[in-house]
Amino acid sequence: MNILIFNQKGGVGKTTTALNLGAGLARFGNSPVTLVDLDPQTHLTAALGHRAEDFAWNVSDWLAGKPGKSLEIAENLSLIAGDCNPATEPEISSSRMKPEGFVVIDAPPVWNSSVARLMVEADWILTPLEPEFLSMQGVSRLFKTMEKFNIPRTKLRLLLCRYDARLLVHRETRESLTQRFSDNFFGGVIRKSVRLAESPGYGYSIFDYAPDSSGANDYLSLTNYWLRQNNPKI
Ligand SMILES: Nc1ncnc2c1ncn2[C@@H]1O[C@H](COP(=O)(O)OP(=O)(O)OP(=O)(O)O)[C@@H](O)[C@H]1O
Ligand SMILES: [Mg+2]
Repeated sequence: MNILIFNQKGGVGKTTTALNLGAGLARFGNSPVTLVDLDPQTHLTAALGHRAEDFAWNVSDWLAGKPGKSLEIAENLSLIAGDCNPATEPEISSSRMKPEGFVVIDAPPVWNSSVARLMVEADWILTPLEPEFLSMQGVSRLFKTMEKFNIPRTKLRLLLCRYDARLLVHRETRESLTQRFSDNFFGGVIRKSVRLAESPGYGYSIFDYAPDSSGANDYLSLTNYWLRQNNPKI
């Protein structure tokens, strides 16, 4: 199952979600997970404690169908590292290696041809959002873009990140999302958590860095949601 994590807006929690959903699926899903760092900022690679420059084979080589291997990070978890200097229009080969199990792709905060192509191919699109009113506008725009590319709306799931229940605007945004996009909204939220912001600095997922934190709890709920999508009997 292929999950593309995308929002054209920057800093909304895409990389944090890729890292912790990927780590959660690997740990609790008992199935291999490949994390793919599609973003030239290479934050996902860095969050796992690696430098993109050190990889002889990276996401561009994978997309182009060149032979190579992902890096083992932990049991069931591997990484296709980012390319901090990609060609402007990366080549995408349909005969490229397709990893088994879950593939979680951390997309850059831009719309380009590779994002479009990978979105068409993805089983799911997961869009982290900030809990603010302008996010609604972003969702409507995303639906329009998806329509243009014939991508069914049913593939999209919206996720509120950095949620703080004390803030009225956060509560209202959650309510509006539930009303307007109920079929696409993952009802749970990822709460604001200092531990989530700290963990990439140590190269850990939240499950290793602070397993008892609210961040670990919230990403566990998201992981379980995805395990149920993959196997409705769970
Ligand atoms: N739930 C959270 N609580 C607190 N801080 C968070 C949370 N989620 C993400 N952050 C922090 O917010 C910042 C932006 O998050 P992140 O890098 O995941 O966003 P992004 O959408 O991948 O950004 P970009 O568009 O630049 O790739 C980071 O410093 C991250 O540690
Ligand atoms: Mg990112």
